Amino acid sequence: MIFAFILIISNCCVVINSSIQSNEAAEHPNETNSYIQDRDIPKFGEPIQNQTIAVGREAVFSCVVDNLQTYKIAWLKVDTQTILSIQTHIITKNHRMTVSHVENRAWVLRIRDVKESDKGWYMCQINTDPMKNQVGYLNVVVPPDILDYPTSTDMVVREGSNVTLKCAARGSPQPNITWRREGGESIAISGQREVVTFNGSILNISRVNRLHMGAYLCIASNGIPPTVSKRVMLIVHFPPMLMIQNQLVGSAIGQKIMLECQSEAYPKSINYWMKNETIITKGKRFEPVETENAYKVIMKLTINSVGQNDFGAYKCVSKNSLGDTDGTIKLYHIPQATLQTTLPPTTTTTRMVTTTAVHPNMIEKSNHKTREEYLTHKNGGTSNNNNNRNSDTRDRDHRHQSESISSTEVQKMKENEIASSTSRLSSQTLAALIYSLLCYCCLQIYLH
Ligand SMILES: *[C@@H]1O[C@H](CO)[C@@H](O)[C@H](O)[C@H]1NC(C)=O
Ligand SMILES: *[C@@H]1O[C@H](CO)[C@@H](O)[C@H](O)[C@H]1NC(C)=O
Ligand SMILES: *[C@@H]1O[C@H](CO)[C@@H](O)[C@H](O)[C@H]1NC(C)=O
Ligand SMILES: *[C@@H]1O[C@H](CO)[C@@H](O)[C@H](O)[C@H]1NC(C)=O
Ligand SMILES: *[C@@H]1O[C@H](CO)[C@@H](O)[C@H](O)[C@H]1NC(C)=O
Ligand SMILES: *[C@@H]1O[C@H](CO)[C@@H](O)[C@H](O)[C@H]1NC(C)=O
Ligand SMILES: *[C@@H]1O[C@H](CO)[C@@H](O)[C@H](O)[C@H]1NC(C)=O
Repeated sequence: MIFAFILIISNCCVVINSSIQSNEAAEHPNETNSYIQDRDIPKFGEPIQNQTIAVGREAVFSCVVDNLQTYKIAWLKVDTQTILSIQTHIITKNHRMTVSHVENRAWVLRIRDVKESDKGWYMCQINTDPMKNQVGYLNVVVPPDILDYPTSTDMVVREGSNVTLKCAARGSPQPNITWRREGGESIAISGQREVVTFNGSILNISRVNRLHMGAYLCIASNGIPPTVSKRVMLIVHFPPMLMIQNQLVGSAIGQKIMLECQSEAYPKSINYWMKNETIITKGKRFEPVETENAYKVIMKLTINSVGQNDFGAYKCVSKNSLGDTDGTIKLYHIPQATLQTTLPPTTTTTRMVTTTAVHPNMIEKSNHKTREEYLTHKNGGTSNNNNNRNSDTRDRDHRHQSESISSTEVQKMKENEIASSTSRLSSQTLAALIYSLLCYCCLQIYLH
């Protein structure tokens, strides 16, 4: 009514004419007589820019109108058909919206703290007849958020069971979900396939085993930062299992040795060593040590100086709530003076005596060697006895000595033995020969 009135005054035309003109203008905007119409009819100066706004931020739509005159501008929400504003006056009850008139040209709709429900088409309308409008789209994007309830929490399962890890996330656009393990290990998905990342919200692991134990990360992303993740622990329970590499360990008296068992168990096992049905406790001579790595434990028992009573069977025992198991390691005696026992001093002496008689030169040599070796051994034996009265360094020296004696010297010893027995044989033959010769002589003398 008002604009019609103003129109009459300014143009000196009738109201009917004016309305006809505006009709024509709407239908034929570029006709030859458009000069007046262009001047009289409001026109959009530029299209409305579409908006993509993260939730919580501000959206700004600008409707640029030229030659508005007394026509009015309204903002509408298309999908709900609601009028948001007329001119700068807000109609909607949504207090997050404001409209400002800028530079006498633009009608700027601002939506603060954008909500997902604000998503949709927005229309800027001029109340011409017929009305003119243009639209812009508000896309509201929401960064991903992992939903607590449908998402798996930490899980405890028995080895061999099937496991389903679930992850649910919301966001706009709908987030993609990937799974990976915290340490970057591969994931064994059903069908024996091993992957480093698994795409999908449900991760099925069939026949779970101890290698699958650990932290799994569910990662939700939809291109809107920040990407979020949730950590789900998969705990696999299984009874203890023992592995022993050396079940037979030899040691000499006084030696320092170490027995070792490897245990795997979850929940963590209690581990200990036993001998003769008695639990071995840490002391001067026994030193049980455990090193842990996840569900693996290396049990080591150090015996600082093996004594005569330490030989025998040692048991490593591993127990948890699901069961117990044990393994046995046999500690056996390696005699240090093997040679001493095979070559008792008396024998050597005898041999010396026997052999000297027949082949003085050769036997002298071999004899010398034998005696030397024997002496070395005897020394070994002596220091061994000292060992029992302790002293660590001597213990080590001794061991070194006895080791160095072993193989090659034994070989020589054997050769010597053979040599001496050969000479013993020949000397016996010789003696027999001499004897029979003597007897023959005697007989001859007797007979004569
Ligand atoms: C009027 O506009 C139409 C398309 O909208 C165009 O094809 C035509 O050439 C225009 N006429 C003049 C006179 O500008
Ligand atoms: C806004 O988006 C619609 C559809 O997505 C498109 O047709 C239109 O051209 C876009 N407007 C601008 C100004 O980019
Ligand atoms: C676990 O899944 C496998 C196939 O993936 C199936 O053969 C087996 O029966 C399942 N076990 C249980 C306890 O559901
Ligand atoms: C998972 O999806 C990402 C992109 O969404 C892709 O790059 C990757 O190759 C996919 N991985 C698998 C195993 O399908
Ligand atoms: C995962 O396992 C569940 C049952 O635990 C089953 O219903 C579902 O189909 C499985 N999904 C896939 C992808 O194997
Ligand atoms: C989600 O996954 C689909 C199909 O794998 C892919 O086309 C899309 O780009 C992914 N989106 C993101 C944000 O990674
Ligand atoms: C085992 O211990 C018992 C008592 O503690 C003892 O009588 C027995 O002689 C021991 N056996 C061995 C082989 O040490």
